[in-house]
Amino acid sequence: MNNSTPIALEAWDPLSSDSDPGILVAAQRREIRNILKSYTGYYDLFSELIQNALDAVERRLGENDQDYEPAIWIRIDIPQSEVAVTDNGCGMSESEFKQFLRPNFSFKQSNISRGSKGVGATYLAYGFNHLGVATRVDSKTLSGVILRGREWVEDRTDSVSRPKVEKSDLLHGAFDSVDRGSSMLVKLTGTSIRPRDLSWVGADTADQWLAVLRVTTPLGGVQQRSFLYVLNQLLSKMLSLYSTRCFHLDWCAEFSLFPAPNTNNMMVFIESRWSNRSKDLLSQTKIH
Ligand SMILES: Nc1ncnc2c1ncn2[C@@H]1O[C@H](COP(=O)(O)OP(=O)(O)OP(=O)(O)O)[C@@H](O)[C@H]1O
Ligand SMILES: [Mg+2]
Repeated sequence: MNNSTPIALEAWDPLSSDSDPGILVAAQRREIRNILKSYTGYYDLFSELIQNALDAVERRLGENDQDYEPAIWIRIDIPQSEVAVTDNGCGMSESEFKQFLRPNFSFKQSNISRGSKGVGATYLAYGFNHLGVATRVDSKTLSGVILRGREWVEDRTDSVSRPKVEKSDLLHGAFDSVDRGSSMLVKLTGTSIRPRDLSWVGADTADQWLAVLRVTTPLGGVQQRSFLYVLNQLLSKMLSLYSTRCFHLDWCAEFSLFPAPNTNNMMVFIESRWSNRSKDLLSQTKIH
């Protein structure tokens, strides 16, 4: 017979984080390890960077600023083993910037955005050993770099300390010209990463990279700007100028022959460098 009397416990929240800090860190590392296990493809790196950039410009498009021209810039540097993606999208607030690398943190509200799980940026920070990040909103630029993320995740002997986002400038030139937006740069360095370099794709020129990225990432969904879209933009601008100067007809500013711009009408610039030997071996292409 079991005669132990049940102890009446106070109600408690099993998700509150007042556990032993060591156990918490171990749990976070396990959580990140599990996230990394779900990334098995060689093109996940490109997909996650491009997906976030497309979602960011789409979010800014939602603000309906008639003068906004959505654009993303992709730089593939094979000798330096670097992939950089910059967008002129919504950018991040300081509090978003400080939290977006955490597992399962997502700030996307739209149910039509590509990402929503909040794990893509975690994969970029902890699936690799070098992620440079920068964002700009209201002329305020924040930037940093997180190093040895993957090595920390894989470390079973506690010899790698938990990485911090350290102060650093971002080295993707396209970000300099952006009034608002974000930029991410992954350098393929250190151990346990996949892919280990960029030459395995077998693409060198920007045109070849565009073809590869169109097939393997959400870039495939971005279409060339159609003639009708360009015409529509031109007519809208002319009419709004006409209405403000001559008649003050407010409806003219709203004039649109075709649906509001979306990412099909954005500009995508791709730059590829495949040899250190000559600067001629740098090529550029764009979807416009
Ligand atoms: N280029 C960017 N511009 C603005 N915000 C960004 C950018 N990249 C990431 N973020 C912010 O960081 C958050 C976390 O990014 P992350 O990729 O981890 O998640 P997600 O895109 O929401 O979902 P998923 O895991 O499906 O990719 C995003 O929800 C977004 O708010
Ligand atoms: Mg994402």
